[in-house]
Amino acid sequence: MTARSALLALERTPRSHLATTPTPLVHAVHLARALDRSPDAVWLKLDGHTGFALGGNKVRKLETELTPSRLDGVDTLISCGGPQSNHARVFAAAAAHLGRRCILVRNGESPDPPMGNARLQSLLTPHIVHVAERADRDPAMEEARRQVESEGGKALVVPIGASTPLGALGYARAMVELDAQLQGDVAWDPDATWIFVATSSAGTLAGMLLGASLLELEGLHLVGVSADDPADGIKARVVDLAGQAAELIGFRGELLVHRVSVTDEYVGDGYGVPTPEADAATLLLARSQGCSWIPPTPRKRRPAWWRRSAMVGYRRATGSSSGTPGARSPPPCPARCRPSGLPAPCDPGSPGARRSRSRGFARGSRGA
Ligand SMILES: Cc1ncc(COP(=O)(O)O)c(C=O)c1O
Repeated sequence: MTARSALLALERTPRSHLATTPTPLVHAVHLARALDRSPDAVWLKLDGHTGFALGGNKVRKLETELTPSRLDGVDTLISCGGPQSNHARVFAAAAAHLGRRCILVRNGESPDPPMGNARLQSLLTPHIVHVAERADRDPAMEEARRQVESEGGKALVVPIGASTPLGALGYARAMVELDAQLQGDVAWDPDATWIFVATSSAGTLAGMLLGASLLELEGLHLVGVSADDPADGIKARVVDLAGQAAELIGFRGELLVHRVSVTDEYVGDGYGVPTPEADAATLLLARSQGCSWIPPTPRKRRPAWWRRSAMVGYRRATGSSSGTPGARSPPPCPARCRPSGLPAPCDPGSPGARRSRSRGFARGSRGA
């Protein structure tokens, strides 16, 4: 099937309507100036504005994951995540919205009192199964499924982040949406465009890779900034997922795998644990552009494209995906900001300070 027919198939992909789209594409003039770039050099694609259950990137993936036909006869939806998982929050809300019971398997220590996503997850479903580690989540979800089925129900298990081939189709659609928005700008040059996006369970970037391939954006640079896992593993998952998503819509053309890179340079102490660079970037974004995101994951993305903007003569950069509830969770770093508004140096024993001595991938739970 040609790219054009696959694009049509993508457009016709069944979905449950959850997201408010298109999300805004904002011309970040003041941020560009603050970064010493030309005023038309930086754009922000605000996928925090997908709306449903406070928005973020999970909404698009769940739209294509929870299709009406897959939900036929299903009375219980099961998924997982950490206490600050945006996915778990949006998933529980989607289950309620679609009239299904939701069981969440939650790993890691829950904040006491519950704050941010942890609090919203408990608000959205009373069925939360607690497990210690990430590795315990899949067996606990299978156990929950068996339990539902032994009681005569039918369950659908959705993996972390809804990063499945179907979920990735949600981000292939987002790429088509972004392309249409950028086409409206006469000066847009795909070959000089770098897109930075947070990456963890890989579905978002996989969908964007598929979308870019269908649109034949051969010069585009797609950069995934890891929030937790090593770059090689994420890249392999991105390529695998994009390939499987391509099969779903009958696309057999070339995936632009060589246009995708993943960096794990900004992981620090793990998912959701801030770094001084990320805090500084968050302040800059807030004060130059009025964006008040303080989510767990995309923090990691920002310093990456700041730095790239200083290093590479690209013309445009767009960020994508976000979530807000992490703003209401307690700060993991003891001293976040000085009164002046500049990021405080971390306490020598704090996670932020230890990060600069040794980088670890194991700490923290992938929250997706
Ligand atoms: C707000 C936000 N953006 C991006 C990502 C990364 O997306 P994915 O898990 O599809 O790689 C996450 C997940 O951790 C997230 O919470």
